[in-house]
Amino acid sequence: MEKRALLYEGKAKKLYLTDDENLVISEFKDDLTAFNGEKKSSEAGKGALNNKISTELFKLLESHGIQTHFVKMLDDNHMLHKKASVILIEVIVRNIATGSLSRNLGIEDGKVLPFTLVEFDYKNDALGDPKINDQHALILGLVEYQDELDKMRRVARQINDILKPYFAEKGLKLVDFKLEFGKDKEGNIILVDEISPDNCRFWDIESGEKMDKDRFRQGLGGLKVAYEEVLNRILGKK
Ligand code: CDP
Repeated sequence: MEKRALLYEGKAKKLYLTDDENLVISEFKDDLTAFNGEKKSSEAGKGALNNKISTELFKLLESHGIQTHFVKMLDDNHMLHKKASVILIEVIVRNIATGSLSRNLGIEDGKVLPFTLVEFDYKNDALGDPKINDQHALILGLVEYQDELDKMRRVARQINDILKPYFAEKGLKLVDFKLEFGKDKEGNIILVDEISPDNCRFWDIESGEKMDKDRFRQGLGGLKVAYEEVLNRILGKK
């Protein structure tokens, strides 16, 4: 598969066209941003870890019947995937209150939610990714039909039902995570982007230690070691 022109550069990945019009390549970068891109850094090897973690998790989800954009991992930093038009909604799934949920609503940090919360944020950096409801999404034209929002919410819950026990078995609490969806050329809504400690919160069940991007956001250090540990647990290496 030949990497052609750069199509887009995001905060964590570069997207390239290929010689197949239906396929694109993501290059996972080592860059880190927090709090709407205000705090920036870079950690050598982070991109490769996220590529490997995402690859394993996409394969796991596919094996459970979840449609994703994943095709294959090409090398340490590159993933081949289907081209999809990204829906500008970040789907946030939460099992435990922390971060903006605790800040905005005063729910105690670490409180286990009575049921899994699924929220929508409008993917718009200039507006600071505001929280939206279904009517906002329809008024903004982010999707055409209510059915599409229902499907995204349903699939997000299915993904949580797969990932939460999977990580629990590996000694990690899946606290919350962000998903993105897109439409493939047939118009199917499929999971896109990545699933990694950049957009999931993992807390070690025994020690309570944070094993995700919060290590960077909160200046805790040891980000790469934590990401490596997440990958090793996924791969069943201890
Ligand atoms: O991280 P912060 O407290 O600012 O936001 P949050 O709404 O509590 O984040 C919930 C989950 O979604 C966390 O796992 C974040 O890492 C993830 N997220 C993300 O990956 N990208 C965003 N733009 C917003 C949230």
